[in-house]
Amino acid sequence: MLVGSSKHLLDVDSLSSDQIRDLVENAREFRTLRAATQFKSDILRGISIYTLFFEDSTRTRVSFEHAGKALGADVINISASTSSVNKGESLLNTSVTLDSMGVDALVIRHPHSGAPHFVAQHVNATVINAGDGAHAHPTQALLDVMTLEEAIGNLHGAKLALIGDIRYSRVARSDIIAFRKMGVEIAIAAPATLLPNDWTHGVNSLGVANSDVTVHGSVEDAVRDADAIMCLRLQLERQSAGLLPDVNEYSRVWGMNSQRLALAKPDAPVMHPGPMNEGLEISTDIAHGGRSVITDQVQNGVAMRMAVLEHFCATLG
Ligand code: NCD
Repeated sequence: MLVGSSKHLLDVDSLSSDQIRDLVENAREFRTLRAATQFKSDILRGISIYTLFFEDSTRTRVSFEHAGKALGADVINISASTSSVNKGESLLNTSVTLDSMGVDALVIRHPHSGAPHFVAQHVNATVINAGDGAHAHPTQALLDVMTLEEAIGNLHGAKLALIGDIRYSRVARSDIIAFRKMGVEIAIAAPATLLPNDWTHGVNSLGVANSDVTVHGSVEDAVRDADAIMCLRLQLERQSAGLLPDVNEYSRVWGMNSQRLALAKPDAPVMHPGPMNEGLEISTDIAHGGRSVITDQVQNGVAMRMAVLEHFCATLG
Protein backbone atom coordinates (compact mmCIF):
# COMPACT_ATOMS: atom_id res chain seq x y z
CA MET A 1 0.00 0.00 0.00
CA LEU A 2 1.09 3.55 -0.64
CA VAL A 3 2.21 5.62 2.30
CA GLY A 4 2.46 9.33 2.98
CA SER A 5 0.70 10.54 -0.15
CA SER A 6 -0.80 13.98 -0.47
CA LYS A 7 -4.45 14.55 -1.31
CA HIS A 8 -3.75 15.79 -4.85
CA LEU A 9 -1.71 14.50 -7.78
CA LEU A 10 -0.17 17.67 -9.19
CA ASP A 11 3.21 16.36 -10.34
CA VAL A 12 5.44 13.32 -10.11
CA ASP A 13 7.87 15.27 -7.90
CA SER A 14 5.70 14.41 -4.92
CA LEU A 15 5.86 10.64 -5.53
CA SER A 16 8.66 8.45 -4.23
CA SER A 17 10.09 5.62 -6.32
CA ASP A 18 8.25 3.16 -4.02
CA GLN A 19 4.97 4.96 -4.63
CA ILE A 20 5.58 4.89 -8.39
CA ARG A 21 6.29 1.14 -8.15
CA ASP A 22 3.08 0.59 -6.17
CA LEU A 23 1.00 2.52 -8.70
CA VAL A 24 2.56 0.53 -11.56
CA GLU A 25 1.84 -2.74 -9.78
CA ASN A 26 -1.77 -1.76 -9.10
CA ALA A 27 -2.19 -0.61 -12.71
CA ARG A 28 -0.94 -4.02 -13.91
CA GLU A 29 -3.51 -5.75 -11.73
CA PHE A 30 -6.28 -3.57 -13.15
CA ARG A 31 -5.10 -4.27 -16.68
CA THR A 32 -5.19 -8.01 -16.05
CA LEU A 33 -8.65 -7.79 -14.50
CA ARG A 34 -9.95 -5.73 -17.41
CA ALA A 35 -8.52 -8.18 -19.94
CA ALA A 36 -9.93 -11.27 -18.25
CA THR A 37 -13.51 -10.19 -17.55
CA GLN A 38 -16.04 -7.48 -18.30
CA PHE A 39 -14.43 -5.71 -15.36
CA LYS A 40 -16.65 -3.43 -13.33
CA SER A 41 -15.83 -2.55 -9.77
CA ASP A 42 -17.63 -0.45 -7.18
CA ILE A 43 -14.47 0.78 -5.45
CA LEU A 44 -15.46 4.35 -6.31
CA ARG A 45 -19.24 3.97 -6.05
CA GLY A 46 -20.78 7.25 -4.87
CA ILE A 47 -17.70 9.24 -5.89
CA SER A 48 -18.17 12.00 -8.47
CA ILE A 49 -15.30 12.89 -10.77
CA TYR A 50 -15.43 15.85 -13.15
CA THR A 51 -12.95 16.07 -15.99
CA LEU A 52 -12.37 19.76 -16.76
CA PHE A 53 -10.40 20.22 -19.97
CA PHE A 54 -9.32 23.66 -21.17
CA GLU A 55 -7.16 22.10 -23.90
CA ASP A 56 -7.85 19.46 -26.53
CA SER A 57 -7.35 15.83 -25.62
CA THR A 58 -8.30 12.41 -26.90
CA ARG A 59 -6.47 9.71 -24.97
CA THR A 60 -6.03 11.43 -21.59
CA ARG A 61 -9.64 12.57 -21.22
CA VAL A 62 -11.17 9.35 -22.53
CA SER A 63 -8.89 7.15 -20.44
CA PHE A 64 -9.76 9.06 -17.25
CA GLU A 65 -13.45 8.62 -18.11
CA HIS A 66 -12.98 4.91 -18.82
CA ALA A 67 -10.98 4.45 -15.64
CA GLY A 68 -13.47 6.27 -13.43
CA LYS A 69 -16.47 4.39 -14.85
CA ALA A 70 -14.73 1.00 -14.57
CA LEU A 71 -14.30 1.71 -10.86
CA GLY A 72 -17.95 2.65 -10.44
CA ALA A 73 -17.54 6.45 -10.13
CA ASP A 74 -19.93 9.00 -11.64
CA VAL A 75 -17.85 10.75 -14.29
CA ILE A 76 -18.94 14.03 -15.84
CA ASN A 77 -16.93 15.58 -18.66
CA ILE A 78 -16.76 19.35 -18.96
CA SER A 79 -15.00 20.95 -21.88
CA ALA A 80 -14.14 24.62 -21.74
CA SER A 81 -15.63 25.22 -25.16
CA THR A 82 -19.15 24.20 -24.07
CA SER A 83 -19.09 25.60 -20.53
CA SER A 84 -19.43 29.11 -19.12
CA VAL A 85 -15.67 29.49 -19.57
CA ASN A 86 -16.77 30.54 -23.04
CA LYS A 87 -18.74 33.37 -21.43
CA GLY A 88 -15.62 34.57 -19.66
CA GLU A 89 -15.94 32.74 -16.36
CA SER A 90 -12.56 32.49 -14.65
CA LEU A 91 -10.76 29.28 -13.77
CA LEU A 92 -11.28 30.10 -10.10
CA ASN A 93 -15.03 30.72 -10.40
CA THR A 94 -15.52 27.66 -12.59
CA SER A 95 -13.68 25.44 -10.13
CA VAL A 96 -15.42 26.87 -7.08
CA THR A 97 -18.80 26.41 -8.82
CA LEU A 98 -18.05 22.75 -9.53
CA ASP A 99 -16.74 22.31 -5.99
CA SER A 100 -20.02 23.70 -4.63
CA MET A 101 -21.89 21.00 -6.54
CA GLY A 102 -20.11 18.49 -4.32
CA VAL A 103 -17.60 17.04 -6.76
CA ASP A 104 -15.10 14.70 -5.10
CA ALA A 105 -12.28 14.91 -7.65
CA LEU A 106 -11.44 17.36 -10.43
CA VAL A 107 -9.23 16.11 -13.26
CA ILE A 108 -7.87 19.28 -14.86
CA ARG A 109 -6.02 20.05 -18.08
CA HIS A 110 -5.08 23.68 -18.67
CA PRO A 111 -2.75 25.61 -21.02
CA HIS A 112 -1.19 27.55 -18.11
CA SER A 113 1.53 25.96 -15.99
CA GLY A 114 0.42 25.86 -12.37
CA ALA A 115 -3.34 26.05 -13.01
CA PRO A 116 -4.15 22.75 -11.20
CA HIS A 117 -1.98 23.85 -8.24
CA PHE A 118 -3.94 27.11 -8.07
CA VAL A 119 -7.27 25.29 -8.18
CA ALA A 120 -6.12 22.84 -5.49
CA GLN A 121 -5.68 25.77 -3.11
CA HIS A 122 -9.28 26.92 -3.54
CA VAL A 123 -11.43 23.77 -3.61
CA ASN A 124 -12.25 20.92 -1.25
CA ALA A 125 -12.08 18.37 -4.06
CA THR A 126 -9.02 16.29 -4.84
CA VAL A 127 -7.25 17.70 -7.90
CA ILE A 128 -5.53 15.49 -10.48
CA ASN A 129 -3.32 17.24 -13.01
CA ALA A 130 -4.03 15.97 -16.55
CA GLY A 131 -1.43 18.30 -18.08
CA ASP A 132 -0.67 21.97 -17.31
CA GLY A 133 1.06 24.10 -19.93
CA ALA A 134 4.68 23.11 -20.43
CA HIS A 135 4.92 22.06 -16.79
CA ALA A 136 3.71 18.58 -15.86
CA HIS A 137 1.76 15.53 -16.93
CA PRO A 138 2.13 13.10 -14.03
CA THR A 139 -0.16 10.30 -15.21
CA GLN A 140 1.61 10.22 -18.60
CA ALA A 141 4.95 9.80 -16.82
CA LEU A 142 3.53 6.98 -14.68
CA LEU A 143 2.15 5.10 -17.68
CA ASP A 144 5.44 5.63 -19.49
CA VAL A 145 7.36 4.07 -16.58
CA MET A 146 4.92 1.13 -16.64
CA THR A 147 5.28 0.69 -20.41
CA LEU A 148 9.04 0.94 -20.53
CA GLU A 149 9.57 -1.45 -17.65
CA GLU A 150 7.45 -4.04 -19.44
CA ALA A 151 9.30 -3.48 -22.69
CA ILE A 152 12.88 -3.69 -21.41
CA GLY A 153 12.74 -5.22 -17.92
CA ASN A 154 14.92 -3.62 -15.29
CA LEU A 155 14.92 0.19 -15.59
CA HIS A 156 17.89 0.83 -13.33
CA GLY A 157 20.88 1.92 -15.44
CA ALA A 158 18.93 1.78 -18.71
CA LYS A 159 19.51 4.61 -21.19
CA LEU A 160 16.46 6.45 -22.54
CA ALA A 161 16.91 8.83 -25.49
CA LEU A 162 14.40 11.69 -25.29
CA ILE A 163 14.17 13.45 -28.62
CA GLY A 164 12.44 16.67 -29.63
CA ASP A 165 10.65 19.55 -27.99
CA ILE A 166 12.05 19.35 -24.47
CA ARG A 167 11.38 22.99 -23.71
CA TYR A 168 7.62 23.06 -24.21
CA SER A 169 6.73 19.44 -23.52
CA ARG A 170 5.21 18.74 -20.10
CA VAL A 171 5.71 15.04 -20.86
CA ALA A 172 9.47 15.64 -21.14
CA ARG A 173 9.67 17.25 -17.74
CA SER A 174 7.49 14.73 -15.89
CA ASP A 175 9.15 11.81 -17.68
CA ILE A 176 12.64 13.03 -16.79
CA ILE A 177 11.68 13.32 -13.11
CA ALA A 178 9.87 9.97 -12.97
CA PHE A 179 12.49 8.01 -14.93
CA ARG A 180 15.35 9.50 -12.89
CA LYS A 181 13.58 8.31 -9.74
CA MET A 182 13.61 4.82 -11.28
CA GLY A 183 17.36 5.02 -12.04
CA VAL A 184 17.10 5.58 -15.81
CA GLU A 185 19.87 7.54 -17.57
CA ILE A 186 18.41 10.22 -19.85
CA ALA A 187 20.05 11.31 -23.11
CA ILE A 188 18.45 14.34 -24.72
CA ALA A 189 18.65 15.71 -28.26
CA ALA A 190 16.82 18.85 -29.38
CA PRO A 191 17.53 22.01 -31.33
CA ALA A 192 19.01 24.67 -29.01
CA THR A 193 15.79 26.70 -29.31
CA LEU A 194 13.80 23.78 -27.94
CA LEU A 195 15.92 23.24 -24.86
CA PRO A 196 15.05 25.18 -21.68
CA ASN A 197 16.81 28.51 -22.19
CA ASP A 198 18.61 28.51 -18.85
CA TRP A 199 19.76 24.89 -19.18
CA THR A 200 23.32 25.89 -18.38
CA HIS A 201 22.66 27.27 -14.89
CA GLY A 202 22.59 24.12 -12.82
CA VAL A 203 18.83 23.70 -12.61
CA ASN A 204 16.77 24.77 -15.58
CA SER A 205 13.49 26.65 -15.69
CA LEU A 206 11.53 23.40 -15.60
CA GLY A 207 13.10 22.44 -12.30
CA VAL A 208 15.16 19.57 -13.71
CA ALA A 209 18.79 19.44 -12.60
CA ASN A 210 21.32 19.44 -15.43
CA SER A 211 23.05 16.50 -13.83
CA ASP A 212 19.88 14.46 -14.40
CA VAL A 213 20.33 14.46 -18.17
CA THR A 214 23.03 14.38 -20.83
CA VAL A 215 22.39 16.84 -23.65
CA HIS A 216 23.57 15.80 -27.12
CA GLY A 217 23.95 17.92 -30.22
CA SER A 218 22.46 15.33 -32.56
CA VAL A 219 19.82 12.62 -32.53
CA GLU A 220 22.47 10.12 -33.59
CA ASP A 221 24.58 10.78 -30.48
CA ALA A 222 21.60 10.55 -28.13
CA VAL A 223 20.21 7.39 -29.70
CA ARG A 224 23.50 5.48 -29.99
CA ASP A 225 23.29 2.36 -27.75
CA ALA A 226 20.06 3.58 -26.16
CA ASP A 227 17.86 0.96 -24.52
CA ALA A 228 14.73 2.90 -25.48
CA ILE A 229 13.62 6.00 -27.37
CA MET A 230 10.90 8.52 -26.59
CA CYS A 231 9.89 10.92 -29.36
CA LEU A 232 8.10 14.12 -28.38
CA ARG A 233 5.50 16.06 -30.33
CA LEU A 234 6.49 19.52 -31.50
CA GLN A 235 4.36 21.75 -29.23
CA LEU A 236 3.67 24.29 -31.97
CA GLU A 237 0.76 25.74 -29.97
CA ARG A 238 3.17 26.76 -27.19
CA GLN A 239 6.07 27.99 -29.31
CA SER A 240 6.58 31.58 -30.29
CA ALA A 241 7.43 32.32 -33.93
CA GLY A 242 11.00 31.96 -35.11
CA LEU A 243 12.11 28.97 -33.03
CA LEU A 244 12.29 26.67 -36.04
CA PRO A 245 13.43 27.70 -39.51
CA ASP A 246 11.18 25.15 -41.17
CA VAL A 247 9.33 21.97 -40.10
CA ASN A 248 10.71 19.94 -43.02
CA GLU A 249 14.20 20.86 -41.91
CA TYR A 250 13.23 19.84 -38.37
CA SER A 251 12.10 16.46 -39.60
CA ARG A 252 15.31 15.94 -41.58
CA VAL A 253 17.62 16.82 -38.66
CA TRP A 254 15.64 15.78 -35.58
CA GLY A 255 13.03 13.27 -36.78
CA MET A 256 13.18 9.60 -35.77
CA ASN A 257 13.69 7.36 -38.77
CA SER A 258 14.97 3.85 -39.41
CA GLN A 259 18.60 4.89 -39.94
CA ARG A 260 18.66 6.61 -36.58
CA LEU A 261 16.76 3.81 -34.85
CA ALA A 262 19.41 1.35 -36.12
CA LEU A 263 21.96 3.09 -33.86
CA ALA A 264 20.06 2.12 -30.71
CA LYS A 265 20.28 -1.32 -29.08
CA PRO A 266 18.77 -4.01 -31.34
CA ASP A 267 15.36 -4.32 -29.67
CA ALA A 268 15.08 -0.81 -28.25
CA PRO A 269 11.38 0.10 -28.07
CA VAL A 270 10.07 3.41 -29.38
CA MET A 271 7.55 5.44 -27.40
CA HIS A 272 5.55 8.58 -28.17
CA PRO A 273 2.91 10.08 -25.85
CA GLY A 274 0.66 10.98 -28.79
CA PRO A 275 -0.81 12.70 -30.62
CA MET A 276 1.88 12.09 -33.26
CA ASN A 277 2.84 14.28 -36.15
CA GLU A 278 3.80 11.37 -38.38
CA GLY A 279 6.49 12.25 -40.86
CA LEU A 280 7.64 15.12 -38.64
CA GLU A 281 9.05 13.93 -35.30
CA ILE A 282 8.58 10.24 -36.16
CA SER A 283 8.39 8.39 -39.47
CA THR A 284 5.27 6.37 -40.23
CA ASP A 285 7.16 3.05 -40.53
CA ILE A 286 8.53 3.46 -37.02
CA ALA A 287 5.30 4.75 -35.49
CA HIS A 288 3.51 1.59 -36.65
CA GLY A 289 6.47 -0.79 -36.79
CA GLY A 290 7.47 -3.76 -34.64
CA ARG A 291 9.52 -1.66 -32.22
CA SER A 292 6.71 0.77 -31.45
CA VAL A 293 5.06 0.40 -28.02
CA ILE A 294 2.83 3.42 -28.60
CA THR A 295 -0.43 1.46 -28.45
CA ASP A 296 0.82 -0.20 -25.24
CA GLN A 297 1.20 3.30 -23.79
CA VAL A 298 -2.43 4.03 -24.65
CA GLN A 299 -3.65 0.74 -23.19
CA ASN A 300 -1.59 1.23 -20.05
CA GLY A 301 -3.01 4.75 -19.79
CA VAL A 302 -6.44 3.43 -18.82
CA ALA A 303 -5.02 0.98 -16.27
CA MET A 304 -2.70 3.60 -14.76
CA ARG A 305 -5.52 6.12 -14.42
CA MET A 306 -7.57 3.44 -12.65
CA ALA A 307 -4.68 2.98 -10.21
CA VAL A 308 -4.38 6.75 -9.73
CA LEU A 309 -8.11 7.29 -9.23
CA GLU A 310 -8.31 4.37 -6.84
CA HIS A 311 -5.44 5.72 -4.80
CA PHE A 312 -6.48 9.37 -4.70
CA CYS A 313 -10.28 8.95 -4.58
CA ALA A 314 -11.13 5.69 -2.77
CA THR A 315 -11.26 7.36 0.64
CA LEU A 316 -13.33 10.36 -0.54
CA GLY A 317 -17.11 10.66 -0.49
C1 NCD B 1 0.52 14.89 -24.37
C2 NCD B 1 0.07 16.18 -23.73
O1 NCD B 1 -1.08 16.60 -23.84
O2 NCD B 1 0.91 16.76 -23.07
N1 NCD B 1 -0.54 14.15 -24.89
C3 NCD B 1 -1.13 13.24 -24.09
O3 NCD B 1 -1.63 13.55 -23.03
N2 NCD B 1 -1.07 11.96 -24.48
C4 NCD B 1 1.59 15.09 -25.36
C5 NCD B 1 1.37 16.10 -26.44
O4 NCD B 1 0.31 16.70 -26.57
O5 NCD B 1 2.32 16.29 -27.18
